[in-house]
Amino acid sequence: HAEDGYRLWLRFDPIEAGLRTRYTQQIKGIHFAGNSAVQQTAKTELLQGLQGMLGKAVGETKNMAEGVLVVGSPQSSELVASLQLPQLKTLGKEGFVLTTTTRQGRRLTVIAANDDAGVLYGVFHFLRLLQTGQDIDKLDLVSAPRLQRRVLNHWDNLDRTVERGYAGFSIWDWHRLPGYLDPRYKDYARANASIGINGTVLTNVNANAMILTPMYLEKVRALADVFRPYGIRVYLTARFSAPVEIGGLKTADPLDPQVQQWWKDKTKEVYQYVPDFGGFLVKANSEGQPGPQNYGRNHADGANMLADAVAPFGGIVMWRAFVYSNETPEDRVKQAYTDFKPLDGKFRPNVLVQVKNGPLDFQPREPFHPLFGAMPQTPLMMEYQLTQEYLGQATHLVYEAPLFKEIQNADTWAKGKGSTVAKVMDGSLEGHTLTGIAGVANIGNDRNWTGHLFGQANWYAFGRLAWDHTLTSSGIATEWIGQTFSTKPAVLATVRNIMLQSHEAMVNYMTPLGLAHIMGYGHHYGPAPWWDKAPRQDWLPVYFHKADNMGLGFNRTATGSNALEQYHPEVRRQWENPATCDERYLLWFHHVGWKQPLRSGRNLWEELCFKYNEGVDSLHGMQSQWAGLQKEIDPDRFAHVQMLLGVQEQEATWWRDACLLYFQTFSKMPIPARYPQPA
Ligand code: GCU
Repeated sequence: HAEDGYRLWLRFDPIEAGLRTRYTQQIKGIHFAGNSAVQQTAKTELLQGLQGMLGKAVGETKNMAEGVLVVGSPQSSELVASLQLPQLKTLGKEGFVLTTTTRQGRRLTVIAANDDAGVLYGVFHFLRLLQTGQDIDKLDLVSAPRLQRRVLNHWDNLDRTVERGYAGFSIWDWHRLPGYLDPRYKDYARANASIGINGTVLTNVNANAMILTPMYLEKVRALADVFRPYGIRVYLTARFSAPVEIGGLKTADPLDPQVQQWWKDKTKEVYQYVPDFGGFLVKANSEGQPGPQNYGRNHADGANMLADAVAPFGGIVMWRAFVYSNETPEDRVKQAYTDFKPLDGKFRPNVLVQVKNGPLDFQPREPFHPLFGAMPQTPLMMEYQLTQEYLGQATHLVYEAPLFKEIQNADTWAKGKGSTVAKVMDGSLEGHTLTGIAGVANIGNDRNWTGHLFGQANWYAFGRLAWDHTLTSSGIATEWIGQTFSTKPAVLATVRNIMLQSHEAMVNYMTPLGLAHIMGYGHHYGPAPWWDKAPRQDWLPVYFHKADNMGLGFNRTATGSNALEQYHPEVRRQWENPATCDERYLLWFHHVGWKQPLRSGRNLWEELCFKYNEGVDSLHGMQSQWAGLQKEIDPDRFAHVQMLLGVQEQEATWWRDACLLYFQTFSKMPIPARYPQPA
């Protein structure tokens, strides 16, 4: 195999000899009775994975002999049914049990689930245990997803460009579909199934109505047919003006009966192509996209019209809350709440409102979005961005799990202490049964899928956290490294160390202390805090950092934009006083004087110098740790990461120098002599 990263975490190479012997003794044969498409997938994966790792095929058996691995659901396998596993009661359709049991004096290993998807996920989990060298002697594991809709959002256009995509072109080859099925579609589905992702939105949120025409629906069907055996459903973005653009109507007003009928007919047509179609994702009245407000209606009117169309088929609508407009004088980070909060309780039960993790736009760090905890009657779907639009794109190594965890662990105080974002998301806080999470995909047609090899870790972490948000960043990193590189303790420890510090390193060299959106205009890559030219002011770095001769930061307290009022009082109190505000969010909420002392004893200017330099220093550390792995990692993947870390180090330095020199024009203070003096 060329070590180009194509195989992702599904490498299944022969494992270390001692372990191989042990596993071979423990898995003497496989009893797998199910024959649905999904279970056939599971079986193929299991047989291939074991053959790869153990170096020889494990035979199938019909008997319940000593050392047999029994796989299936009670419906599909008499043997599984006869085991009468009590654990199955609590698992739902997608959960699974891995257990070691003795029947008639024979030791059996069992992968069981109530339904096909659970069998598939159980098989992948079992393979993961072997790949990462776990003990399978006394298995006693029960696992079920905490969220239902675990969905990737592809911002892929029909011409194969990918909005904010940094890993090549779209993997959907629309031109040659439906006749030609790129084998990659299957590999994509396998990868997703292996981490529990069960849905994919194929098209960009800045939608093209053409996707809903028969010509494209045929292609969508072809993809859905490939994905179905992997437990993955297809969703599409719906362009709100489609009734006008492809339907020949004069209006797309959601209260117009003709428009409603058009969507009902269109939806029926979609379901004829894809009977298990998941539903629609919609970006409306944001950044120039059409929506219900064009007709004086609100977001609930728009969402409900589509919800009624998909409801008879069991579909859902994911309606995005990423809305803001330049015409509104209100602070951009307040606008989604202003629009959506009054609509709580007005959405149909099959609508999820999809909310980005923070109120601005996927910055290296943002406080959690105030809509979490503010719409008790509406299920909210989390939206994370795996493609690193503002995070160094496919050039910088940033492991995003710590960012996701920071948001999920944040306390909204909606129902008192402990009302975390995670509990809003998983429905437990308000008893919602419809739940979901979306990750804006970082996938393209690059050989290694994600451009930067470590981008794979973000895809992986998204899937694992979507399944179980209580997993830790460190635990997920350990799994990923074990499957991707090696399970040697020294490799695990070093790579994990690099990954776990990478997010904070980036925050420090890009936007420390709560700064945001000071990236280059439009492309969002390098530093440009000085940029003051754009068609709208809420795209301007200078609008976000508000540097002046007095200080730095955006006053969002009651004396400023009062974005703080959108949080519950306990949260507000944590952040409203600059002296006690978590310094990670300090400049997000406050305009702070340059000479203001911070908790470290350094004043704001000195702290800024400290943080930017700390970020660059972390990069040096990450580079030398990676260099130490040369003997442990194949030359191609080693060099790929090494070179990119070199670029990242240069660019971290660029960020530091550019930002400090620019902010210095306001602070008018020297960069302390202990730091490098940028020219
Ligand atoms: C960001 C991004 C856009 C994208 C938008 C969205 O603003 O830059 O390209 O369309 O988010 O999430 O809708």
